[in-house]
Amino acid sequence: MTRDDMGFVAKLVYEHAGIVIREHKEAMTRGRLARRVKALGLNSVAEYCAFLKTPAALDEIPELINAVTTNHTAFFRERHHFDHLRGDVLPRLIQERAARRGRIRIWSSACSSGEEAYSIAAVSRDVIGHRGDLDFRILATDIDTDILDRAAAGLYPLELFERLPADLRPLLRFDGQAGRGEARISDDLKRLIAFKRLNLIESWPMKGAFDVVFCRNVFIYFDTPTKAAILDRFVSLIHPGGFLYLGHSESLPQPHPKLRLIGRTIYERTP
Ligand SMILES: C[S@@+](CC[C@H](N)C(=O)[O-])C[C@H]1O[C@@H](n2cnc3c(N)ncnc32)[C@H](O)[C@@H]1O
Repeated sequence: MTRDDMGFVAKLVYEHAGIVIREHKEAMTRGRLARRVKALGLNSVAEYCAFLKTPAALDEIPELINAVTTNHTAFFRERHHFDHLRGDVLPRLIQERAARRGRIRIWSSACSSGEEAYSIAAVSRDVIGHRGDLDFRILATDIDTDILDRAAAGLYPLELFERLPADLRPLLRFDGQAGRGEARISDDLKRLIAFKRLNLIESWPMKGAFDVVFCRNVFIYFDTPTKAAILDRFVSLIHPGGFLYLGHSESLPQPHPKLRLIGRTIYERTP
């Protein structure tokens, strides 16, 4: 694969997903492209790049994006967000909205294989229970269609549950053992979540506002203008008094007049 080929792939990925492939990630990217080389029966990454330059390659773009995304995640990753949601946010929202069958909406905006969304569902079910006077839903989206299929299946190695801290383990309910060494998230938690494909750099179909948006460990792949544009759109979709959670190594691209830092990577949307 020549430097020009790498530049070409990097440009495609940036245009279609906003992801910047930095120089130190090039070797890893080449390895990930090898997956597509094999799937298409080609002989080399260079051949794959030549294919990408043909008009027939239009259908290949989503596969290319699926191949280059980094999907690392975990249940209750960066736990302080779930503690904040459970202890501060949900009790207040219930107080405000219960009785009127008020809406509570939470968005996991780069949900990867679903652990983040199921962790949100687990703490929410624990706080809200099964009361019928609230309309509670979680939207979980990602650009990567392969990883979304895995998220929707909700099937995980049993050891991931076993490794959870003792106080969180009972919250993440699963329906027995699905296969050897695997467990499936319970339908009760699954029912709370809608998994959909959404590219953060394209237009967003939803109109209603969210109480909480999780946008964690995806801004690290974007440049400053991309982050700033997405952030503006988050702000317009979060209720005043609602919250935005970023990943532990992330911060706002620049201070935002309508976002106030109130805790570790926790931002409150001001009126
Ligand atoms: C490292 S994972 C983060 C998962 C989870 N939020 C967490 O913090 O554990 C990053 C996810 O962002 C997704 N992603 C990358 N670019 C995206 C885009 N333009 N729109 C939506 N999702 C994107 C990837 O597919 C990947 O699943």
